Amino acid sequence: MRKQYLFVANWKMNFNINQEFNFATHNYDDLIKLSEDSNTTIILCPSFLSLYDLNKIFKETKINIGAQDCSPHSKGPYTGQISAESLSFTECKYCIIGHSERREFNKEIDAEIAKKFMQLINHKISPILCIGEKLQEYKENKTLDILKYQLEKIFNVINTEIISQNLPIIIAYEPIWAIGSGSTASIDYLENIFTWLKIQIENLEKKINCKLLYGGSISPDNAKSLKSVKLIDGFLIGKSSLDFQEFKKIVEL
Ligand code: PGA
Repeated sequence: MRKQYLFVANWKMNFNINQEFNFATHNYDDLIKLSEDSNTTIILCPSFLSLYDLNKIFKETKINIGAQDCSPHSKGPYTGQISAESLSFTECKYCIIGHSERREFNKEIDAEIAKKFMQLINHKISPILCIGEKLQEYKENKTLDILKYQLEKIFNVINTEIISQNLPIIIAYEPIWAIGSGSTASIDYLENIFTWLKIQIENLEKKINCKLLYGGSISPDNAKSLKSVKLIDGFLIGKSSLDFQEFKKIVEL
């Protein structure tokens, strides 16, 4: 039996809104075809400005739309921020939080990411929580300490509401040194990390509906071997999601 996978396209700020619209409309039929495989869940994450249009384009199809971030606040004087409530009005079902680019360029810290997590839960949007270590931390063998710290902040806010909703919680392990670098983590290394992640989830007193993704330089060249890691439930794809043919190959391999 074929395994179920989630494929999350993180377009970042690579496209302008015309290009996002064109991607969706030019590849509409092929995207629908890909999403009709019951083992495949596709989530496209465009910029905020395209969420509404893309949700309209793919309404009543199996293509899902996700945001790339949300505010840690519910509402108020926070110029430039977008609330989870507003995301829910665009019918977003998913939202990336804690991406390493936001941690680095926007100085986001885990406490703030935990607030975003709760905002999303309150609006029934599945968080795609990104975690991962920097190159130096990897070299110093500190990966598990870093992941433990990042996860603990989120695990501390998991409450009965999350459990009763059974909302899928998605955790994307993205070694920061693999993002956009062209080099991925080795299969052995990933086997260890995902086994460890699975144990952390299973050891939680409060049981959650959790999926584990890998992200960082996924391409048609390495997708097949990455799929050999049994505990990986899907992929967070940056650069290779900008070219539909590359994205399609990763899904179909
Ligand atoms: P990449 O990006 O596939 O271009 O490495 C992944 C990500 O940042 O989510």
